[in-house]
Amino acid sequence: MSAGAVGRAYPRLEGREKVTGTARYAVEYPVDGVTYGWAVPSAVVRGRITRVDPAQALASPGVLAVVHHGNAPRLAPGPEPDLWLLQEPTVHYRGQFIAVVVATSLEAAREGARLVRIDYDAGPHSTVLTDDHPGLYKPDHINPSYPTDTAEGDFDAGYAAAPVRVDVTYRTPAYHNNPMEPHATTAQWHDGRLLVHDSNQGASSVRATLAELFELPRESVRVVTQHVGGGFGSKGYAKAAVVLAALAARHVDRPVRLALTRQQLFGPIGYRTPTIQRVRLAADADGRLTAICHDAISQTSTMREFAEQTAVYTRSMYAAPHRRTTHRLVRLDVPTPFWMRAPGECPGAYALESAMDELAVAVGIDPVELRIRNDTEVDPDQGRPFTSRNLVACLREGAQRFGWADRDPAPRSRRDGHWLVGSGVAGSSYPARARPCSATATARPDGSFLVRINVTDIGTGARTAMWQVAADALGVPPERVAISIGDSDLPTAPVAGGSMGTASWSWAVIRACQALRGKLPEGGSPDRDVSAEADTSDEVGGQPTLPRYAYGAQFAEVRVDATTGEVRLNRMLGVFAAGQVVNPTTARSQLIGGMTMGLSMALHEEGVLDERYGDWVNHDLATYHITGCADVESIEAYWLDERDGELNPAGVKGIGEIGIVGAAAAIANAVHHATGVRIRDLPIRLDKLVGVSELA
Ligand code: MOS
Repeated sequence: MSAGAVGRAYPRLEGREKVTGTARYAVEYPVDGVTYGWAVPSAVVRGRITRVDPAQALASPGVLAVVHHGNAPRLAPGPEPDLWLLQEPTVHYRGQFIAVVVATSLEAAREGARLVRIDYDAGPHSTVLTDDHPGLYKPDHINPSYPTDTAEGDFDAGYAAAPVRVDVTYRTPAYHNNPMEPHATTAQWHDGRLLVHDSNQGASSVRATLAELFELPRESVRVVTQHVGGGFGSKGYAKAAVVLAALAARHVDRPVRLALTRQQLFGPIGYRTPTIQRVRLAADADGRLTAICHDAISQTSTMREFAEQTAVYTRSMYAAPHRRTTHRLVRLDVPTPFWMRAPGECPGAYALESAMDELAVAVGIDPVELRIRNDTEVDPDQGRPFTSRNLVACLREGAQRFGWADRDPAPRSRRDGHWLVGSGVAGSSYPARARPCSATATARPDGSFLVRINVTDIGTGARTAMWQVAADALGVPPERVAISIGDSDLPTAPVAGGSMGTASWSWAVIRACQALRGKLPEGGSPDRDVSAEADTSDEVGGQPTLPRYAYGAQFAEVRVDATTGEVRLNRMLGVFAAGQVVNPTTARSQLIGGMTMGLSMALHEEGVLDERYGDWVNHDLATYHITGCADVESIEAYWLDERDGELNPAGVKGIGEIGIVGAAAAIANAVHHATGVRIRDLPIRLDKLVGVSELA
């Protein structure tokens, strides 16, 4: 590869289209004869629909159809029961989509949805996660395929024998993904073929799911996903909107546009499961961990099992001879939880990195030093060395940049008028995985190149990053390269998720470009189009599997109003080691975005559940608080110049998720340092601080 484009700060290729409003999102494509769908949610938590009366809706101007389980096109029962929509009268949770009204305008569809009469037989429900729920059970494995429990040494004996012990339980609420663009689809059927313009994180997988549900060959389904307004994991697979739109379009035999409302995103698309996490740490008098235990409880639905890997972070982060992790789950009458930025690692790191802070206080050692002392070059879980682990380097550089050295470790030791000021630190890590991918590269007689790959750019800058990678792999200036993404007719690529998009896609892009170079005349252009393709299935599948992770260190300084308990972030600073950074501009956005989301998790976001109602009561951005610009006074992200030749041809580790991991713990630890009060259930609201102690 020639040095050049990779590592340089290019603006997004589609930036101009986005800021001028010409970039088309899923429901913005002009389509002749398009109609509008409006999803109808169930009004009960658990039960059975006994009657659907569409008469009033159908009499309303513009309404074309009310599609429900009694008249909807049939779907094949697949492995995703959540997507078997409008097929049966059963209600599994409040807000489940049970009908779609189709009309000639959005307004008419909405009015029609209001007029559909639905009767139910409703039963009792259980929607609250507790640590003594009678339904708690041990799943066979946890996501994506980890063992449910692990144990090395003898935790109980190691814990009992230690001079310093911490035994603490943390709670996190449900968090809702809330991308700017909702789940949205325009669906069209032409001669038995399905075309959808859809907002998702992976058009290849959405195509596969739709083909399965509608019993079509994959070639008969096309999913176009040019621009996506975020997903944070919630669009990782096909979700309700695309299935409802396709069902409705088939039923009315017209194109249908369907976008979920903001309120409808709170549940049916998935959410981060609430957790209850007990962490026990034991150490010698020097702060060296001797025993670690992390017991995690989370929830799933009655439709299918989603077993989040909450305690997996603890398996590999710090070493100790005696270690145990467990996961327990309960099936509640709720929508199925799903991925939200760093599923498992994010809430798990909040608990472990908070407990490490509690241990630092208990043993009287600086929390940066405590983490350095418990660093390990060998993965405690796998017993093999990490490909690279620069946690200590991140902690040291972060401490230096943040100005940690002057910190008085005593809580409540800094005051600024009526503000109590404190600082906190946390470690961070996220797996550096890759999946098989394919791509093609074409050279043209005019000296230009075209790279085709079904990458999904959910706003991260993926399109631009792959263009940079392709240019270097071709050994040409990027201006000579065009890249085509966002269409399931392009070579198949894995989802933009799990922080493995860049690693997976760049692998295939580089192999296709290398293959193309082998076919071209030396130093010149071909006299006709010449193409080469690559599929990394064998190479990725056969790779040696040394443990591989990105690392980071998160530092936060907060101020807490001594009278009201209001918490504000003064500044936050993260240093990350994530291999090769392809584009500093877009990488920085990913990292500070993740950190901001961690701030939001620590202080602002919370799904508030009412058991009588059987649902979260805050279903909009007025009542579900998300960190806004005014809450972010200063967030800085830096990275180390890390080269890890074990990973993949581009040497990348992925940066989409690591920014959120540990961020909430750093803030919670800073709140403790400022106030002397340890709040162990997120978010840290002012009423919790005021309720626990007289701050002033
Ligand atoms: Mo991310 S939650 O894996 O899309």
